[in-house]
Order: sequence, then C-alpha cells, then structure tokens
Amino acid sequence: MNAYITKASEEDIPQMAHALFHSELGKRYYPTLEVLTNQMQNSFITDAFYILKVDAELAGFIWFQANGAFHTYTYLHMIFVRDKFQNHGYGKLLMEFLEKFSLNDTGMKKLKTKIFLVVGTWNDSAIRFYEHYGYLTLSTIPGLFRKHTDENLMMKECTQASIH
Ligand SMILES: CC(C)(COP(=O)(O)OP(=O)(O)OC[C@H]1O[C@@H](n2cnc3c(N)ncnc32)[C@H](O)[C@@H]1OP(=O)(O)O)[C@@H](O)C(=O)NCCC(=O)NCCS
Repeated sequence: MNAYITKASEEDIPQMAHALFHSELGKRYYPTLEVLTNQMQNSFITDAFYILKVDAELAGFIWFQANGAFHTYTYLHMIFVRDKFQNHGYGKLLMEFLEKFSLNDTGMKKLKTKIFLVVGTWNDSAIRFYEHYGYLTLSTIPGLFRKHTDENLMMKECTQASIH
C-alpha cells in the first residue's frame, strides 16, 4: 500500500465533500451535499486541507486552521478516514501530520504548542481516538452546532519531543 498525505487542491473538494457527506458524521452535521461543498469552498483560502491517498485513492483528509484557536493555536476542524480505510493506521498518520505541521508552522520550529478541537459527545469512537493521542476534554459546550447536540472541547499540548 502506498499511502501519502498531500495538500488538497480545489479540484479535490467534490470528492472530499462526497465522502464526508455519505458518512454518519456528514449526515449529522450537513443538511445537503451542496451546503458542505460550499462550506469547503468558502474555507479553502483561509483553512488548511490535506488529503490522504492510498494507492492513488482518496482514503481521508484533514481540515484545520493553523491559528484558528485564540488566533494562536491550531484548531482541528475535521479528521476523516473513509469507512473501508479505518483501523489501518491512517488516522494516526493524519494526527501525526497535524502535530508536526503545528510544531513547524511557517518554518519556525516551536518547542511546544497546543491543538484544540471539538467533537460531538455522541461520537464515542472519535473521543476515544483523541484520548488515545493525549487529548483532554476541557469542557462540554451545549448545543454548539446543533440544538440537541453537545460538543466536547478537547486540547492536546504537543512538544517536539513527543513527535517522531
Ligand atoms: C476517528 C478516525 C479518524 C480514526 O481513524 P482510523 O484510521 O480508524 O484510526 P487508526 O487506525 O489510525 O488508529 C490509530 C490509533 O488509534 C486507536 N484508535 C482508533 N480508533 C479508536 C477508538 N475508537 N478507540 C480507541 N482507540 C482508537 C487505534 O487503536 C490506533 O492505536 P495504535 O496506534 O496504538 O495501534 C476515523 O474512525 C474516522 O474518520 N471516523 C469518522 C469521522 C470522525 O468521527 N472524525 C472525528 C470527528 S471530527
């Protein structure tokens, strides 16, 4: 298997949006494929999108803002691995990529930094995945994106010593 992460181009948006929209996560948060596609297109200039390809096939992607948390720290908006590629270590590749990116952003090596994210309290599997990587829940925000859906605000402190 040849797996690699590369910066997404705008032409990748329809494929990313399609894959996410047809997942449980996509169905919960986006009313239509068009809404999701538009959000991605509108965010494309300001946000970072990197895709994971396995043997030239889109296996997943990561969507984040390098200074999106408090104008200083990385905010992870979305990590997504398509169902058939899950549990093969690809989520790990994307998480490690994010940490390296956050510690070396703009070519200036930081000794430590923080990464923030929010995840639905319904999404036990993703919460366990983040906890596995050392993310801690800071608090729960009621109805952040959807009226009846609460979100955990999570954070990880990363150091150069903790990445490989
Ligand atoms: C969460 C997600 C990205 C994980 O990706 P993945 O490719 O299946 O994860 P990996 O196979 O790389 O697992 C990496 C490590 O995390 C652990 N892990 C993965 N899912 C886990 C879970 N639910 N609970 C505990 N540990 C978990 C694995 O055991 C593995 O540990 P190891 O490196 O010590 O062996 C993927 O399941 C996904 O895209 N889910 C749907 C979208 C989503 O909910 N995204 C998060 C919300 S924004």
